[in-house]
Amino acid sequence: MTNNYLILVNKTHLCSYNDFKIIKVNSAYNPDAYLEEVTYKAFLKLKDFVKKEGYDIEIESGYRSKELQEKIFNETKEQKGLEHTLKFVAKPGYSEHQTGLSVDFCLKENNKFYVDFEMQEHPVLKLVADNADKFGFIIRYPKGKENITGYGYEPWHLRYVGEVAKIIKEKNITLEEYLEEV
Ligand code: DAL
Ligand code: ZN
Repeated sequence: MTNNYLILVNKTHLCSYNDFKIIKVNSAYNPDAYLEEVTYKAFLKLKDFVKKEGYDIEIESGYRSKELQEKIFNETKEQKGLEHTLKFVAKPGYSEHQTGLSVDFCLKENNKFYVDFEMQEHPVLKLVADNADKFGFIIRYPKGKENITGYGYEPWHLRYVGEVAKIIKEKNITLEEYLEEV
């Protein structure tokens, strides 16, 4: 019924499994980026696809240790306040990034990088959302599902789940809803 690539990490499911093979990856944006191996290969294929459509995406953030998540949480809290932070950043221990199966992508355009909210309504977000499933990814925190995922809309946060991505997209459901069904 389930495989490791369907691991659930959210506000109530701590990231307790970390047996994935995490590798250092190439990113023009983040020289210190890591991902789970299969996730990285899938991301490279998605990146190639997106490139052929005329856009350049890079890995902004991949695998995070609990310590790194803590740093991001605290920095975001200082910069944007607790309410925003709880809506967009997981508490240390509860981030899906700690599995290595999550990728936050950013956009490179005219030699400038656009990260998370800076991408605004850029067409690349729709392109990725429409095609990520072909490469095994879902948009993990979709618009309108905040009450289920626990987080605000993050069109840049991809989660590798493999083949199941096609079902999740087709049914317009979240990973939580999919796991509830099976
Ligand atoms: N932005 C997601 C929720 C995280 O911090 O893991
Ligand atoms: Zn993310």
